[in-house]
Amino acid sequence: MPASIGSPSGISHVAMMGIGAYRPVRVVPNAEIIEAIDSSDEWIQTRSGIRSRRFAGEGETVITMATAASEQAIRSAGIDAAQIDCVINATSTNFQQTPPAAPQIASALGITGTAAFDLGAGCSGFCYALQVAADMIRGGSARHVLVIGAEKLSPTVNPRDRGTAFIFGDGAGAVIVGPSDEEGIGPVTWGSDGELGRAIGQTKNTLDYINEVEANELTGAKTERPYLAMEGTMVFRWAASTLEKALRDAVDKAGLSMQDIEALIPHQANGRITDVMAKHLKLSENCAIARDIEETGNTSAASIPLAMEQLLSSGAAKPGATALLLAFGAGLTWAGQVVKLPKIVA
Ligand code: UT7
Repeated sequence: MPASIGSPSGISHVAMMGIGAYRPVRVVPNAEIIEAIDSSDEWIQTRSGIRSRRFAGEGETVITMATAASEQAIRSAGIDAAQIDCVINATSTNFQQTPPAAPQIASALGITGTAAFDLGAGCSGFCYALQVAADMIRGGSARHVLVIGAEKLSPTVNPRDRGTAFIFGDGAGAVIVGPSDEEGIGPVTWGSDGELGRAIGQTKNTLDYINEVEANELTGAKTERPYLAMEGTMVFRWAASTLEKALRDAVDKAGLSMQDIEALIPHQANGRITDVMAKHLKLSENCAIARDIEETGNTSAASIPLAMEQLLSSGAAKPGATALLLAFGAGLTWAGQVVKLPKIVA
C-alpha cells in the first residue's frame, strides 16, 4: 500500500496577540506641501482630513521601520522572537526588488532560518497578510506568524502632483498572530478588480524607465522618472459605493451585527471615505472610529496596523474590543475581517 502523507495539525482559534508601530521622526505639516501644488492647509484638511504626515529619512527604510515595529509587537505579545515560524511583510515600496525584505527583517530580529516573504496587495496588503497568517496557523504550517505592513511612499510621490503629494506618508505597523482560546480573527471578505488597475499605479514601469534613460543618453534628452499616479476621484467613488457590501459581509460572516462593532478601522485613505462608511453602516454610538490619517496620512499597507495601534495607545479602544477592519487600494484590491484587538506594549 502506498504510504499516506501525514496531515499538518492545525489550531482552531487564532488572534492577534500583540501590536507594534514605527512612525518616522520627521513630521511634515500641510504647510510644507502646499506651495508646490498651489493648495492650502484648509483644502487638504477639508478634502482628506490630513493635517500632517511623517516622511522617512535616509536611514529609515521599509526594513528598519518594519524591524522596529516588529520588536514592539513581539514585546507586547510576550513571546520570544525564536517562536515566530513565519514573517509576512506587506509592502509595495521596498525599493530593492531582489532580495525580498522579509528575510532581512527576520535576520534583523535575530531569527535567521524562519520562513519569510513579502506580500504585494497594495493598500490591502495588511488585511491579506493577516488572513494568510490566520489560515497558516489554522492549517498547521505555523504557530506564530509576524504580520507587518511597512511603506516608504514619500520617494514615490511627485511633490508637484496635486492628486497625490498631500496624501501619502511613511511608517510601519506589525502584529503577532498566534493560537487563542477564543476566536480573534473572523472570516475574511476579499476580492480584486484588475479592470480598474489603472486607477492606482505608476506613471511608467521600471523597465520602460531604464530603456528610456538608455535611449535618451544618446540624445541628451531628459527622462522623467516614474512616480505614483492615482485617479483619485475614481477611487473615491468606487470606495464609497462598493465597499459598504464588503464591510457588511465581514460582519455577517462573523455572525455579528453592526451594533456589536466597538471599533471601525478602515484603510486610512481619506477621512471623507471613512465618514461615508461610518454613516451608511449605522454603527453604535460608542463605536470608536480610527482617524489616524489626520497625523499620519495614507501609509498604504501600514495604515491599518498604525491606525489600530493609535486607537489602542490613545485609549479610544481597549484590547479585546471587537473591531471591523477593511483595507482597499491598488489592484484594485480589498480585504477585511472582524477581529479582537490585541494588547499593546505595557
Ligand atoms: O490608498 C489608496 C486608495 N486611495 C484613495 O482612496 C484616494 C481616494 N481619493 C481621494 O482621496 C480624493 O479623490 C482626493 C483627495 C485625491 C481628491 O479629492 P477630490 O474631491 O476627488 O478632488 P478633485 O480631484 O475632484 O478636485 C476638486 C477640485 C478641482 O477644482 P474645481 O474643478 O472644482 O474648481 C481641483 O482643481 O479641487 C481642485 N484640486 C485641488 N485644489 C487644491 C485638486 N487637487 C487640489 C489640491 N489643492 N491638491
